[in-house]
Amino acid sequence: MLCFIYFVLFLLISPALSQVTDCTKLLTCSDCIIVLKCGWCSTPTQGGCQNVSSSKCSPADFFVPTSEVLEYSEFPIDETNQISLENINIQLRVNEPLSFNVSIKAANDFPLDVYVLMDLSASFKKDLMTVQVLASQLPLTLRNVSSDFLIGFGTYVDKPTLPFTSNSQLNGYECSLPDCDTPFAYHHIVALTNSSDLFNSSVHNAIVSTNVDNPEGTLEAMLQAVVCDNIIGWRDNSRKILLVMTDDTMHTAGDGALAGITKPSDGLCHTEYDPILNRTVYTAALSQDYP
Ligand SMILES: *[C@@H]1O[C@H](CO)[C@@H](O)[C@H](O)[C@H]1NC(C)=O
Ligand SMILES: *[C@@H]1O[C@H](CO)[C@@H](O)[C@H](O)[C@H]1NC(C)=O
Ligand SMILES: *[C@@H]1O[C@H](CO)[C@@H](O)[C@H](O)[C@H]1NC(C)=O
Ligand SMILES: *[C@@H]1O[C@H](CO)[C@@H](O)[C@H](O)[C@H]1NC(C)=O
Ligand SMILES: *[C@@H]1O[C@H](CO)[C@@H](O)[C@H](O)[C@H]1NC(C)=O
Ligand SMILES: *[C@@H]1O[C@H](CO)[C@@H](O)[C@H](O)[C@H]1NC(C)=O
Repeated sequence: MLCFIYFVLFLLISPALSQVTDCTKLLTCSDCIIVLKCGWCSTPTQGGCQNVSSSKCSPADFFVPTSEVLEYSEFPIDETNQISLENINIQLRVNEPLSFNVSIKAANDFPLDVYVLMDLSASFKKDLMTVQVLASQLPLTLRNVSSDFLIGFGTYVDKPTLPFTSNSQLNGYECSLPDCDTPFAYHHIVALTNSSDLFNSSVHNAIVSTNVDNPEGTLEAMLQAVVCDNIIGWRDNSRKILLVMTDDTMHTAGDGALAGITKPSDGLCHTEYDPILNRTVYTAALSQDYP
């Protein structure tokens, strides 16, 4: 609880401190050094917070921290090391950015995992045809980038409850039976595979569902796709790309309260095979808020 309060105060005070134009009004060292133009003078008689550009404080007594790199080491870049940074230790002053260089070189034929996460809300219907045309080309194009390449597929709409989705729209104007799926939060369909045919046919089999409000449950599905390693089949040493196809904004933490769902997301994998549905589904949509 104490931690929480401190965090809130910090957020409120910090922007106000950054507006300060007179350093001498800042009475503690920690408030002082948040303002970039100020430094803390520890000379006994004339100490306190002072303007760096006009202070007469002796340099030995004047504490003006700066953001800096303390330690830095690099790997040579080659086929196995695609990123140069080996180790970095930095000191950051609040509000003072720090830049450093990292070199990256994509090795030829590095393992590449691409998981496609597709919005199947009713409004996406007009885009689905475009995506289905792309579905047969995407694996061919990516195989050009790396021959060691796997592709997977999942779909999402939103939490299956009002005010996010509604079964009563199953025969609405955008989506009509039987080509209309009941609303769902996230379905995992194809684990990472080298079969472009499986990916292509799954995308072609996708049918849209309904939705009520504009934002979608995108973030919830993204979280599952990232944390459910064993289900998705992410490889340890691959470059991983989560490709999200959507036509709208996303719900975020707090929005679940609109349906009385207030328990925060625990960030864990809650996706499993449901034998009744014969589908791999997200099971915590109605018990946990959006991430
Ligand atoms: C520091 O002094 C400079 C010029 O002396 C002034 O322009 C600036 O506003 C002062 N900044 C602070 C934070 O006191
Ligand atoms: C990053 O590298 C560029 C080009 O070598 C150099 O000009 C720049 O100063 C470097 N920046 C840092 C923060 O080291
Ligand atoms: C693969 O790369 C070759 C050579 O760059 C190019 O001619 C071909 O069109 C590419 N194929 C696809 C499917 O992108
Ligand atoms: C796909 O993977 C299987 C086994 O992992 C392998 O036997 C097959 O040759 C691969 N197919 C392609 C097109 O890479
Ligand atoms: C993709 O799947 C559709 C439907 O199953 C099929 O008609 C099409 O020929 C497939 N494309 C490729 C390149 O396999
Ligand atoms: C379950 O779904 C898979 C793929 O969608 C299908 O091949 C299989 O026949 C289904 N099994 C049952 C028992 O319906």
